[in-house]
Amino acid sequence: MSAARENMQHMNEISALDVATLDTVTVRRDFPILQQTLKGGPLIYLDNGATTQKPAVVIDAVSRFYQTDNANVHRGVHELSLRATRKFDAVREQVRAFLNAKDCKEIIFVRGATEAINLVAQGHGRKFLKTGDEILITEMEHHSNIVPWQMLCQQTGAELKVVPMNDAGELLQDKFEELLGPRTRIFGITHLSNALGTINPLQDMIRKVREFENVMVIVDGAQAAPHIKVDVRALDCDFYTLSGHKIYAPTGIGVLYGKLDRLKDMDPYHGGGDMIRRVSFEKSEYAEPPAKFEAGTPDIGGVIGLGAALSYVNSIGLNVIAQHETDLLDYATESVSSIDGLNIIGTAKNKASILSFTLRGAHAHDIGTIMDSMGIAIRAGHHCAMPVMQHYGVAATSRAAFAIYNTRAEIDALVSGIHKVKEVLGR
Ligand code: ALA
Repeated sequence: MSAARENMQHMNEISALDVATLDTVTVRRDFPILQQTLKGGPLIYLDNGATTQKPAVVIDAVSRFYQTDNANVHRGVHELSLRATRKFDAVREQVRAFLNAKDCKEIIFVRGATEAINLVAQGHGRKFLKTGDEILITEMEHHSNIVPWQMLCQQTGAELKVVPMNDAGELLQDKFEELLGPRTRIFGITHLSNALGTINPLQDMIRKVREFENVMVIVDGAQAAPHIKVDVRALDCDFYTLSGHKIYAPTGIGVLYGKLDRLKDMDPYHGGGDMIRRVSFEKSEYAEPPAKFEAGTPDIGGVIGLGAALSYVNSIGLNVIAQHETDLLDYATESVSSIDGLNIIGTAKNKASILSFTLRGAHAHDIGTIMDSMGIAIRAGHHCAMPVMQHYGVAATSRAAFAIYNTRAEIDALVSGIHKVKEVLGR
């Protein structure tokens, strides 16, 4: 076992503080999956941008729900259904508070950020956009904030415009102002880039958007919500999306926040049970939001898990989490900066939690595979952000994405891993 991984083992065993404000030893004990050894040492999980691990409180909450409360929601008068409904609805209120939305009706449960964006593209965009309208997005978007808009352009005749970025991975604000105009109908932007780590200056940009009438702003918050305190009212966005699995909740559950008026104007894109007021063969009347957008039996267990995950995050505090992850990113950036041939992709002044890099002469997949042989999980690929890769002229990058349970010792192991890759590949 490498010295770095031995040190990791030590970190798991002794009680030590990683940073003054976050006791990672205690936090790591909350995550059963981290207790295993893999390939001869402790698992080093740095693929948190893809999905985070789940604390026992989340796993237990889901399990307890199925063991004691399982029933369908909003449908039964029996005790279990009432109990399930009460717990399900309580999470909607939790999410409202988490995002500082005004009203629970503004919180729609969906499968994840991807489904949330598609819902807005089809429910809002298809209804309101027409030929000559423009949809403005940015060069650093994930495919989930590109493809639904391209589909909408094909359906409506609207045109897609793209705000470019500089080589640090920061959006060019002068170009943004040039592209924003009276034809802009939708502005879609990521809060935190999954491929670069850039945190966009949303508040300033949305303020500029508000100088124009009738532009709908949708923020992809899939990567941001686990790391940054989100306040949808302060941001003044129309829609904000998040994926539960990136914030310690199960996969398959996510959230669309929408301003109530926007949601009322929007069409549903799934029809079925629980989203109607009245149905006849001639015509159906839709229910009010949120039910209007939640046809069919929802992922009740996932919602329960999401509630437990948000409680867990709140119990530690997003500010403490953010401070810890900033420390990790700074430490990692400093640690890799002297490695010959390593190039960090994404050096924005304001960034969080993501270290994306290339290594001269080494393919990202080879790096990922050699890292895996050492028990280190990173992501290698285009990160569903091919335009970002094109900007830098690379096919793929290696990405370490940090979360609440990561430690400096794990970053030391990552650095040793990179040296090992160089040795194995002779770079
Ligand atoms: N969007 C996820 C990522 O960045 C899957 O890895």
